Amino acid sequence: MGQVIAVANQKGGVGKTTTAVNLSACLAASGKKTLLVDLDPQGNAGSGLGIDKNALENTLYDALVNETPMAECVIDTPVAKLRMVPSNKDLVGAEVELVDVERREYRLREALESVRGDYPYIIIDCPPSLSLLTVNGLAAADGVLVTLQCEYYALEGLSELLQTIILVRDNLNKPLKLQGVLLTMYQHTNLSKQVVADVRSHLGDKVFQTIIPRNVTLSEAPSFGQPVIHYDPKSPGAVAYVALARELISRG
Ligand SMILES: Nc1ncnc2c1ncn2[C@@H]1O[C@H](COP(=O)(O)OP(=O)(O)OP(=O)(O)O)[C@@H](O)[C@H]1O
Ligand SMILES: [Mg+2]
Repeated sequence: MGQVIAVANQKGGVGKTTTAVNLSACLAASGKKTLLVDLDPQGNAGSGLGIDKNALENTLYDALVNETPMAECVIDTPVAKLRMVPSNKDLVGAEVELVDVERREYRLREALESVRGDYPYIIIDCPPSLSLLTVNGLAAADGVLVTLQCEYYALEGLSELLQTIILVRDNLNKPLKLQGVLLTMYQHTNLSKQVVADVRSHLGDKVFQTIIPRNVTLSEAPSFGQPVIHYDPKSPGAVAYVALARELISRG
């Protein structure tokens, strides 16, 4: 059975989507069939792969709320071996519509069951909240990859997130593990170096060896609808995400 990894942090703009898209593309490029699931109503993961959010027949919303079979919500991407389940603002409604539904925390897990066997990796891009959608992501996952931006308040909010992971583990999904903490937007400044040292001293070997640099190429690539390994494979951002995919595969 493949691995399901939720990329999460309730803080906004810390590199979740950039990581979900580029890690997925790098896993696919290394021969691992990958499914990217966009659990964020902002729909940024799809845009980053050049997908027109307004021209979708089905989205994750249909799988979660209307019980449309997941296979009918999966679409191709421009990247070989990478497919995705896109989302758009319809997904905002799912929060409300699922409130009274039984086993509402397991909607994503159950929806993914029929396709799990087809992919060695399923990567879930979570929204910046600890909402029912994120809980669905955590309940569906084997592991959580937490992105932390190398800035002054990097660790702020982390204890709340770890607490949520523990709650989900205790109540919904026992085997859920902290897959790893990924430092993003690293710059060669004293502040970035200090953040890396602090995070490593708090979280030890839970922190990925790979660190993602702040690299303008990573922020440009989505506007061309491409993962960075297509847009500029030699850029520092591309090299870093290739290394992250390798590290993840080798950690097993
Ligand atoms: N390593 C990086 N170098 C430069 N820019 C980056 C890097 N990582 C992310 N960015 C840019 O920072 C912004 C926020 O990144 P991203 O969308 O990945 O964060 P997020 O955590 O998914 O945000 P949200 O919480 O809104 O979903 C984007 O404009 C993105 O292009
Ligand atoms: Mg995002």
